[in-house]
Amino acid sequence: MPLTSFPPGFVWGAATAAYQVEGAAHVGDRTPSIWDTFCRTPGKVQGGDTGEIATDHYHRFREDVRLMSGLGLGAYRFSVSWPRVQPTGRGPASQRGLDFYRRLVDDLLAHGIRPVLTLYHWDLPQELESAGGWPGRGTAERFADYAHLVGEALGDRVGSWTTLNEPWCSAFLGYAAGVHAPGRTDDADALRAAHHLNLAHGLGAQALRAVLPRSARISVVLNPNDVRALTPSAADADARRRIDALSTRIFTGPMLRGAYPDDLLTDTAGITDWSFVRDGDLDVIKHPLDWLGINYYTPSVVSAATDNRPSPGPSAYPGAQGVAFHQPPGARTAMDWTVDPSGLYELLMRFAREAPGLPLAVSENGAAYDDRPDGQGAVHDPERVAYLRGHLDAVLRALGDGADVWGYFVWSLLDNFEWAYGYSKRFGIVYVDYGTLARTPKSSARWYRDVVRTGRLPM
Ligand code: NOJ
Repeated sequence: MPLTSFPPGFVWGAATAAYQVEGAAHVGDRTPSIWDTFCRTPGKVQGGDTGEIATDHYHRFREDVRLMSGLGLGAYRFSVSWPRVQPTGRGPASQRGLDFYRRLVDDLLAHGIRPVLTLYHWDLPQELESAGGWPGRGTAERFADYAHLVGEALGDRVGSWTTLNEPWCSAFLGYAAGVHAPGRTDDADALRAAHHLNLAHGLGAQALRAVLPRSARISVVLNPNDVRALTPSAADADARRRIDALSTRIFTGPMLRGAYPDDLLTDTAGITDWSFVRDGDLDVIKHPLDWLGINYYTPSVVSAATDNRPSPGPSAYPGAQGVAFHQPPGARTAMDWTVDPSGLYELLMRFAREAPGLPLAVSENGAAYDDRPDGQGAVHDPERVAYLRGHLDAVLRALGDGADVWGYFVWSLLDNFEWAYGYSKRFGIVYVDYGTLARTPKSSARWYRDVVRTGRLPM
């Protein structure tokens, strides 16, 4: 029987990330992160935009918590800025930095909103990048110290913890394609980065477990790729397999099974011999998870390349030469991402199968559109409503088919700094006027409020 409503207790939330919303880049003891540096590098971020002010969530969080409370949200997924709470990435905590998160969490709790804290959403302290960054093992060790320090400070009031957000982006957009900070383009370094992010997750989870109350829930948030083959040919199926290994199984292999997939090691043998994986690392990485977060926006379609033209620039998939990407059919968002909710259903069912017993959350899902206030200042975003409805329907189908999904977090609460696109892409259900920083809930926010209230998808 297909479900027509979400189960009682289903958690409805919204998500943001520190560098994308906080601003206050020079407040307190904060030191620069790799994104501060990247934003200052000409040509890297559209319009030369930076996160210096962003949505000024640092100063306006009470207003944002009130907005969430007005929508009836039960949870807020946010990230802690590493360079704000442990300037330079080493040594003692900044109490001023931690105080911001204490205030935020206390205000959330006072409004009955559960904090879901991510330790790392891409803002590595620049000093750690200068010392080698994620390709170096030391960064994973530093991350464990940082996890310990935040766990100790906030463990009394935060029950739900995520080590890393989308390590694929950190490793491959940051170190292979170079389109994210730190903007490096070295395939071997990107694979080393992937391993050290995996290790950071494992060491961080251990560190959290050691300081948090037993009831705390520890997770990681991935962006598994729903990759489809263009045709049923063996060559296209192989292209699909290679991209699946490089985007998803490179993380889920070690995290869920304690091993890198054999085909990944073979496909990347010309780039690295993986000798940086030390004895014991895989046991650390396989630390038990209490839940897994899945971020989903759009699927991928691949085929074996039919010509031998070199790819136009550095690829985000080292070891996948000879694979061509195709735009999946269908309507597209302002990111040019195809709207296809079936990918979310497929991923939820995949992890329900591959990790039985592991609770799942949709930790991000949403869309960018060119929203503009009308003459009265209202912002109507019917395409976003359609996007959310389609994807929530996919979640409902997965729930009906047995997937254990405990919550859904819309990306994003607010329009914010969309990385290399700067402020040109608006993902919020709340509009932000970057001139005045005024917040205006879009029609999607009201639609979402009704979903949260009724547990159903209104017609
Ligand atoms: C995933 C990332 O976690 C988030 O930071 C980003 O803004 C969204 N995708 C949209 O691209």
